Amino acid sequence: MGDIFTAVFGSEAEEQYILQCMSYILIFMAGATFLTLLFENVPYGRYATSKYGFPVNVKLAWFVQELPAFVLPVFLVLKSSAAQLSETANRFLIAMYFCHYVHRSLVYPFLIRGGKPTPFFSFALAFVFCIYNGYLQIRHLSHFAEYPKDWVRHPWFIAGFVLWLLGWLVNVHSDHILRNLRKPGETGYKIPVGGMFEYVSGANFLGEIVEWSGFALAAHSIHSAAFAIFTFVVLSSRAVAHHKWYLAKFEDYPKSRKALIPFVF
Ligand SMILES: NC(=O)c1ccc[n+]([C@@H]2O[C@H](COP(=O)([O-])OP(=O)(O)OC[C@H]3O[C@@H](n4cnc5c(N)ncnc54)[C@H](OP(=O)(O)O)[C@@H]3O)[C@@H](O)[C@H]2O)c1
Repeated sequence: MGDIFTAVFGSEAEEQYILQCMSYILIFMAGATFLTLLFENVPYGRYATSKYGFPVNVKLAWFVQELPAFVLPVFLVLKSSAAQLSETANRFLIAMYFCHYVHRSLVYPFLIRGGKPTPFFSFALAFVFCIYNGYLQIRHLSHFAEYPKDWVRHPWFIAGFVLWLLGWLVNVHSDHILRNLRKPGETGYKIPVGGMFEYVSGANFLGEIVEWSGFALAAHSIHSAAFAIFTFVVLSSRAVAHHKWYLAKFEDYPKSRKALIPFVF
C-alpha cells in the first residue's frame, strides 16, 4: 500500500515508531486503568449504571464495539503488499488474531442471552479500544514484524501457540457455560458449574488472559505484550469483582473456588 499510511505518517520508519509509542501508551493506560479499577468496576454487565450514559442494547453494543477489531485488520491485510504477509510466522499470528475476533465480533454478540444493556460510555471506550488495538496488532504483523525463518519451530512460538489455543478454548467454552445458565427470556444470575468454573469464578477471563499472553509469547513484540498486559489488568480485576459478588450473593457458593488462578488466588 504505497500508501495511505505512509502518506499520513510521512514514512514507514515514522509509522513504525508511532506503533511503538502506541504500545507504550497502551501499557501506560493499563497502569491508569489498574488504579481506576481499585475504586470502581468497569461499568457494564452486572455493574452497569445510568451514571455512564444511556443504555445501548447489549447485542448491538457488542457487535458494533467489536466490529472495528475485525474490519480494520481485514482492510490492513487486504491493502498491504509487504513481504511480511507471505511469511509463515506472520500469517500464523494474524490467523490467531482473526480466529478470536471473527468469533468475538460476528458470533458472540448474537449468542448473548438476557445480557444487561451497556452504558454508552463503556460502549464508546470499547469501540475506540478495538480500533486502536486492531490497528496496532495487525499493522505491525502485516507490515513491519520480522521473524527468523524458522520462528514457528522456536520453543517460544510453540509454547505461545499452545497457550493461545488452550486459552481461546477455555474462553469460548466458559462463555458458552455462562450463556446456558439462562433459559431464553431469563435475565437473572446463577452459580456457574462445569469446565474451569469448577476452579475459578472468572473462568472466561482466565481463558482470555492466557490466550493473549500466549499470543504475546508467540509474537514476541512490545505491541502484543501491551495488549496482553492491558487484558490482564481489565480482566483480572473483573474476575476478582465477580468472585466477591458471587460470595455476597450466593450463600451456597462453592468455598473452594478461587477468583482467577485455580487453587491459588
Ligand atoms: N480482552 C479484553 O480486554 C476484554 C475485555 C472485556 C471482555 N472481554 C471478553 O468478553 C467476554 C464477555 O465479557 P464480560 O465481562 O461481559 O463477561 P461476564 O461479565 O462474565 O458476562 C458474560 C455474559 O454472561 C452473562 N452472565 C455472567 N455471569 C452469569 C451468571 N452467573 N448467570 C447468568 N448469566 C451470567 C452476562 O450477563 P449480564 O450482562 O446480565 O451480566 C453476559 O451476558 C469474555 O469472554 C471476556 O473475556 C475481553
